[in-house]
Parts: sequence; structure tokens; C-alpha cells
Amino acid sequence: MNLDLSEEQQLLQASVREFAEEVVRPQAAPIDQTGEFPRATFAQAGELGLAGVAVPTEWGGSGMDSVSYAIVIEEISRTCANMGVILSVNNSLVCDPIEKFGNDDQKKRFLVPLARGEKLGCFALTEPDAGSDAGNQKTRAVLEGDHYRITGQKVFITCGSNADLCLLFAMTSPEKKTRGISAFVVDASSPGFDRSRHQVKLGVNASGTVEIFLTDVKVPVADRLGAEGDGFKIAMSTLDGGRIGIAAQAVGIAQEALEAAVAYAKARKAFGRPISDFQVLRFYLADMATEVDAARLLTRKAAAAKDSTRKNGGRYSMEAATAKLFAAEMAQRVTTKALQIHGGYGYTKEYPVERNFRDARITEIYEGTSEIHRLIIAREIFKDAGLSIG
Ligand code: CAA
Repeated sequence: MNLDLSEEQQLLQASVREFAEEVVRPQAAPIDQTGEFPRATFAQAGELGLAGVAVPTEWGGSGMDSVSYAIVIEEISRTCANMGVILSVNNSLVCDPIEKFGNDDQKKRFLVPLARGEKLGCFALTEPDAGSDAGNQKTRAVLEGDHYRITGQKVFITCGSNADLCLLFAMTSPEKKTRGISAFVVDASSPGFDRSRHQVKLGVNASGTVEIFLTDVKVPVADRLGAEGDGFKIAMSTLDGGRIGIAAQAVGIAQEALEAAVAYAKARKAFGRPISDFQVLRFYLADMATEVDAARLLTRKAAAAKDSTRKNGGRYSMEAATAKLFAAEMAQRVTTKALQIHGGYGYTKEYPVERNFRDARITEIYEGTSEIHRLIIAREIFKDAGLSIG
């Protein structure tokens, strides 16, 4: 089993790191404070091909594999978790399903500008009463001739404040439950599509999280993604890919915290020597480095599984859930320890670790909580009647 990055992936990593250090890192702390959505930086990332990393070149993307995508999200998140999740949403929650389930006309109209970063997408599944229980959709889409009329409310929509296009899920046949949900690509400038001000949060505060209110929004039948009733499966299979992005985001956040903790441990002196001389700190850092690497490998394994299902069919829900669960929980442990190593300074805004600590917290919640991932993994274990997770 070869775990080395290919030459192309190494080059990509180096160029994304340069962009992240030069352009993304300087804005990370300011936008965390102001909550300003980094739209111009998203457009710059788009020019570099980072808005549609795994989208085929014929549809405006970079035509790379999913491991490359995980590398991009990790490198960006290592400098700014906000940009990490914004790119993750656009790539894996919006571009990916349009590429997989869209027709050529939809790809031309929606995918090309999204993959180039000329337009920004958001993914609107969650509702006040449909969080972990995503099938409990109350937003209603009623067919009226050549369009649907959509009414309802969505909450916690990342990128919603700035999105041009919204991949929206709504009930077309409530009596059919999850088999009665359909997916639509909705133009966010449509009459009746309203959004709240962005919500101020504990972390990832510049990711444009809003509520969306839909009042008789007219959506052409031509903008329905997939067949009527396919929406829940589209949402679930899309989230399998999205979870790889969030796992990579968690790895990037933890990597930044680890690097900060190593630098601080070398510079800070106590009892007449650098604190990195003390075994307790060395052991902390050894555990942190081990955990970050383990999460990175699980994330890349899930990304490779996604690529293999593209060729061979099947699902990679287990690999994605395992990577997201471990990476998100790892990020809590690593950022907590990094803050502790910094002592009182870690609790101030002088160092990045307090932001890492806050940003890491959401990775255990969005795109499926840790509890939902344990449920998915347990279902897979018992479905297979064995423990073939190696
Ligand atoms: N791929 C394809 N199909 C899938 C699937 C997958 N990964 N998972 C389930 N399905 C199919 C099932 O096969 C089933 O099909 P049939 O009707 O043909 O039998 C159907 O979908 C219903 O599946 P379940 O019975 O498993 O559905 P459930 O109601 O028990 O829900 C769940 C399962 C895992 C709990 C799911 O609701 C879930 O993942 N919840 C979490 C939701 C979530 O992650 N929300 C994130 C919001 S987006 C976000 O957070 C973005 C952001 O801000 C950054």
C-alpha cells in the first residue's frame, strides 16, 4: 500500500500552502473578529482552481482526485478554518452533487461558474426540526405546471449569506417520507428567497451562517436535480463526500495548533529552561502529532475510497464517517492540549490556539454530529455481520 503523495499532489500541496500563507493566513484573525465573509478570497481561490478541485476540467474544475481535494482543504484550514469550510461546502456539498446527478444543461449553467469560483453555492438541508433527523423535512415544493412553488425555512446554512446558488431540499410527496424529498438548485436572487443576518457563533464566525426563508419561491422544473423523490439519497451521498472535507478541515485546524504548540514550547522558558525540555510536554506533543497523523491517514483513506467508488460503484459511508468522527474528536483533544501548553497566553488572542480551540468545536457538530457518525458506523458493522474495517 503506497501512502506517498504523487508528484502532482505534492506540487498542489506546495502551491496551496503558498497561497494559504500569503493570502489566507493574514485575514484569519481579523475575519474571526469581524465576521466578514471572505468573498474576494473565495474568488481568488477559484482562480487557482480550488473551488472545484475534483470537478472535471470540461465543467470548469481542476479535474483532480479526492485525495488532492482533502489536501487542499487541510492546507487552507491550517491557516483559516473559515476559508476551509467555505471551500469544502462549495466543492463537496454543491459542485459534487451537480456533477454526479445533474444533466449537461444544469452542469453548464450551474457547475461551471461554481467550479470556477465565479459563483458561490450553499447546501440547504437543515431545518428547525430536521437536524440529525434530516428526513423530517417540512419545506414543501408543490408542482405547478413548469415550476415548483417552494415554501419553508432552513437554518444553520453555511455560506448562505453570500451564496448565489442554493442546493435546496424540499418535500414533494410528504406521505412518502424520505422517498418524497426532492433536490433543487435555487437561484438565491429569486423573489421570496430571504436570508437572515449572519449568525454570530463560537467559532468559524465568518462562514456566513444564516437562516433562509422561502415564501412561494418559483423554481423551474428544469432546475430540479435528479428525479422527484431522489432528494434524500442525493443529500446523504453528498454528505458522505462533505464529511471528508470536514475531516480535512479538522486535521488542518489541529495541525496549526500543533505547530503553534511546538513553537511555543521551544521559545517559552520556565525553571531556567525551555518548557520543551519537560517530559510531560514532550509526551503531550508526541500524542498530538500521532493523533493528527492518524486522522490525516483516515481522511485520505476515505478520499481514496470515494475515488474508487466513482470507478467501481458502491458507497464509502463507513470510511467517511470513520474519518470525520475521529478527526473531529482528535481536533478537540489536540486544540485543548495546545491551549494548555500555552498556559495563560493560550487563553488570549495573542496566539492562534484560542481560535483553533473554538473553530475545532463545530467539526463535531456540522455535517453530522459525532453521535450520528457512531450510528452510521455501527449500522455498517452490523450490516456486514463482521468487522472488516481494515
Ligand atoms: N448514500 C446513499 N443513500 C443513502 C445514504 C448514503 N450515504 N444513507 C442513507 N441512504 C438511503 C437509504 O439507503 C434509504 O434508502 P431507501 O429508502 O431506498 O431504503 C434512505 O436513504 C433512508 O435512509 P435511512 O433509513 O438510513 O434514513 P434515516 O432517516 O434513518 O437517517 C441518518 C439516517 C444517518 C441519521 C441521516 O439522517 C443523517 O445523516 N443525519 C445527519 C444529517 C446531517 O449530516 N446534516 C448536516 C447538514 S449540512 C451541514 O452541516 C453543512 C454545513 O453547515 C457545513
